[in-house]
Amino acid sequence: MKKINLKKIFNKKRVLVTGHTGFKGSWLSLILNYFGATILGVSDSVPTNPSHFKIYKNLKKFKSKKVDISNKDKIKKIIFDYKPDFIFHLAAQALVKKSYLNPVKTWRSNTFGTLNILDALRDYKKKVVVVLITSDKVYENIEKKTGYKETDLLGGKDPYSASKTAAEIVIRSYMDSFLLKKNNLSTVIARAGNVVGGGDWSENRLIPDCVKAWSKNKKVIIRNPNSTRPWQHVLEAIMGYIILAANLKQNKNLNGEAFNFGPNTKKNYKVIECVRKMKKYWPSINWKVKKTQTFFESSLLKLNSNKALKILKWKCVLNFEETIKMTTIWYRNFYQKNKKKISINQIEEYIKIYNKRSKIKI
Ligand SMILES: NC(=O)c1ccc[n+]([C@@H]2O[C@H](COP(=O)([O-])OP(=O)(O)OC[C@H]3O[C@@H](n4cnc5c(N)ncnc54)[C@H](O)[C@@H]3O)[C@@H](O)[C@H]2O)c1
Repeated sequence: MKKINLKKIFNKKRVLVTGHTGFKGSWLSLILNYFGATILGVSDSVPTNPSHFKIYKNLKKFKSKKVDISNKDKIKKIIFDYKPDFIFHLAAQALVKKSYLNPVKTWRSNTFGTLNILDALRDYKKKVVVVLITSDKVYENIEKKTGYKETDLLGGKDPYSASKTAAEIVIRSYMDSFLLKKNNLSTVIARAGNVVGGGDWSENRLIPDCVKAWSKNKKVIIRNPNSTRPWQHVLEAIMGYIILAANLKQNKNLNGEAFNFGPNTKKNYKVIECVRKMKKYWPSINWKVKKTQTFFESSLLKLNSNKALKILKWKCVLNFEETIKMTTIWYRNFYQKNKKKISINQIEEYIKIYNKRSKIKI
């Protein structure tokens, strides 16, 4: 079995994480910090209250700056002053519904924010590994059943998807025109879809809406009980980003590549199955089904992650039951047992499972 020693690769390294106050960014920062890295997080705000980021913000070797990434000069100064060994770029207006309400801000953050980072790197002379996080929504949705490959056509209709696709076009242009010619830079794109897990309080996402209602002993309204979701745990996608960065550090051949990190797709589970499963681990919860459709959101895009499996030996290791169990237990601890700090325990539990079930040890 191959070993990729993440503690060795990230220990004492300087890591810049944009979007560190968000759902994915907070988990990513926490794991990298767990592996011994020093983190500088850059975000424009703390998007939710409660917030997973706030629970851990006082950790050692974890600093925060409040900066809007659409400010080109500020983001350049941060990169040049901090001199990171790794950059993970996640900052984005990440909600489809909000992108309809505020398309210009969405484009400014998602597309121009990414452009600003790339442009700063154009002049940058120190060694750095850069992982640019986009989305499954960058693919042109042609209702493909077999899953989208990295080489498939990009598209995107709603403002969120289009702004992330535009970010990919900017990335490709900068890679080909400037970044791939520079020996100090290694840059990749990571695409993942919707994820679930403890610590998400975003609006209009199923599990956050459920736990917000249940924490007040209210019934949650389930609008699309029969629609299916990917149900990938946040740690699965995040581990993909980390393993990709670690590989890129050791293997310059991956420079300029894109990788998908999709969920296990052997069986698709419905929203109602998720809620029923949550009840198993939080028995007092309840819901009411009321069917409505409020805004257009493109139907599910399935990712083909064979490239990540083959080259990085990355794979999802949790099944549906474990994913929902881990998520529900996280929120139940938070709301009912007043135990706020269980993420590190879940990270350790996840790493153990990963090492048992995957072809690489981390
Ligand atoms: N969560 C998902 O299911 C999912 C699915 C696919 C892709 N993604 C991508 O992953 C990344 C993180 O998503 P998330 O769910 O954690 O989002 P989130 O909304 O929880 O967090 C977004 C983060 O970006 C920051 N941000 C937004 N605009 C900014 C700006 N102009 N300047 C500085 N910071 C800014 C916010 O402050 C926050 O820290 C995004 O790039 C998103 O597009 C997420």
